[in-house]
Amino acid sequence: MSNYHIKHLEEYFQVYRKSVRNPESYWEEIAEEHFLWHKRWDEVLSYDFEKPEFKWFKGAKLNITENCIDRHLRTRGDKTAILFEPNDTTEKAQHISYNELHERVCKMANVLKDKGVEKGDRVCIYLPMIPELAVSVLACARIGAIHSVVFAGFSSKALATRINDSSCKMLITSDGSFRGNKKIDLKGIVDAALENCESIENVLVVKRIETNISMQNGRDIWLQPLLDNASSSCEPEIMDAEDPLFILYTSGSTGTPKGMVHTTAGYMVYAAFTFKNVFQYREDDVYWCTADIGWITGHSYIVYGPLANGATTVMFEGVPSYPDYGRFWEIVEKHKVTQFYTAPTAIRALAKEKTEYVEKYDLSSLKILGTVGEPINEEAWHWYDENVGKKKCPIVDTWWQTETGGIMISPIPYSTPAIPTFATLPLPGIQPALMDEEGKEIKGNQVDGRLCIKFPWPSMARTIWNNHQRYKETYFSAYKGMYFTGDGALRDSVGYYRITGRVDDVVIVSGHNLGTAPIEDAINEHPAVAESAIVGYPHEIKGSALYGYVILKETGETRNQDNLRKEINQLISDRIGPIAKLDKIQFTSGLPKTRSGKIMRRILRKIASNDTSNIGDTSTLLNPEIVEELMENVISS
Ligand code: PRX
Repeated sequence: MSNYHIKHLEEYFQVYRKSVRNPESYWEEIAEEHFLWHKRWDEVLSYDFEKPEFKWFKGAKLNITENCIDRHLRTRGDKTAILFEPNDTTEKAQHISYNELHERVCKMANVLKDKGVEKGDRVCIYLPMIPELAVSVLACARIGAIHSVVFAGFSSKALATRINDSSCKMLITSDGSFRGNKKIDLKGIVDAALENCESIENVLVVKRIETNISMQNGRDIWLQPLLDNASSSCEPEIMDAEDPLFILYTSGSTGTPKGMVHTTAGYMVYAAFTFKNVFQYREDDVYWCTADIGWITGHSYIVYGPLANGATTVMFEGVPSYPDYGRFWEIVEKHKVTQFYTAPTAIRALAKEKTEYVEKYDLSSLKILGTVGEPINEEAWHWYDENVGKKKCPIVDTWWQTETGGIMISPIPYSTPAIPTFATLPLPGIQPALMDEEGKEIKGNQVDGRLCIKFPWPSMARTIWNNHQRYKETYFSAYKGMYFTGDGALRDSVGYYRITGRVDDVVIVSGHNLGTAPIEDAINEHPAVAESAIVGYPHEIKGSALYGYVILKETGETRNQDNLRKEINQLISDRIGPIAKLDKIQFTSGLPKTRSGKIMRRILRKIASNDTSNIGDTSTLLNPEIVEELMENVISS
């Protein structure tokens, strides 16, 4: 049992050493004690970094939904599994018990089967954050269909690309969605996408916003009447450990999105194990991750990880700013949330607003706070710690990726002392390595390099759908016998890791490697600055120089921009050194962001480099209009 739930730092080190000395027996013990198997594995791990091929719990048979639902029914049947908080504050929250979830998943699974979906078929799910999204995901897993969830903020073009890449047979969507005070016509987007998708046979449509939409005869079907007539019992399909569970697309630095394929047993074991430890989940806790299920964070830490632990997991349909900037905190108070997991970009946006929005609510139920998706700057970390956690909640800065399936480097609350901006230590079983550009491992502490993982872990993506060669080239070719993350990291004097950002965001100025994230941290400390992004651009003498895009807080105060530029550079000079000073600073009202909140640095680099003839596709941006503004005001000399 002690392997599964780590509670002290000494225990962590003990467990970690054991997990590295003998990974097979370490994971075997966890898999044996905590999950339901129809057949035991023949071999815990077989792997080959050359091919590359990784198999965990080879030969085992299971169904992940039995582990996430059925096995809790006897002891937790009436416990809330999914707590749904709607967009609108006037609509009531829904408490979906494990019993009810079981019934809804079985019915949905029967509908899918009835419409011809079979084991191994791909089902695309394009839904807002409503319970049907989680139910559809689980229903696919129930019958062995491979789900491919596409974030419902993606455009029709992006949706079509993803449907076609994996030839999905079925699409599950809704008539529309609510986002703050807006209604979005999802079905219209779907119709446009499907003009170019031949593989889709049926579209199941959830009624959510009650508007008139067009339904194509023979293709589109309202879901509810089908559910009403479906049986509420559905035997789970018994899956092989290495059968694909889902495909999730992630954008590469170049080319089309990559359909990362995750398989069943290893993913389940790792998502469950990391959820339990990183969030120190206890039986009566109410856990809330604000991500969308359209991203890996939602797959692993809204659906599979929490449910595999019999947890109560909150699903929020809305946005942090509606009806006002206090919405997150209102929900925390209302449902007595104990663990809260969000992205630094959300924290920064909320920190920009008046603190009264936070102070108004009772947040005393909170025990643990988490962040994910990008480096968190010190200022945002402290704001989170002071205003949300009231300095009593450990913060877990969790580093991981779509490709890793689960959290890889993170503090364990109450065990690992946190340091702002450090993801700290690898979780058990995770063996990070820092590499130099020649391909040699950089040993020791107080070093930085390219972050690789030198031993397989259970939830690693096994391939890219239909493109194993690309999988090999992207992740296993730069460094022999290792998985290359694409991130840079620093290991400090005690062995803590700090992620410095994508290695392609490193700028070499006069021969010095400068990570852009620490420079942004420094700029963001300026009281007038809300957010910033730094990129490199070609410079005659230095090779590359730094270009800063800075969003100012709306204080109503008009400052002299030249003075502000000087102050910002002084701060950078103080925090990092004169070498990191910016040559150009452009003030802007926004930054181009992906729908998941990541800054599109590719576009910023092009603008800064005056290379705007081929700016690339901006249609998947959250705010494509900002690109024009940035180009108009670019500082060119
Ligand atoms: O650069 C790292 C950054 O996000 C990348 C992975 O993005 P994605 O596949 O969309 O998954 C995000 C959710 C897991 C990483 O390569 N990243 C993620 N978490 C952190 C981070 N950077 C710094 N600190 C983190 N905690």
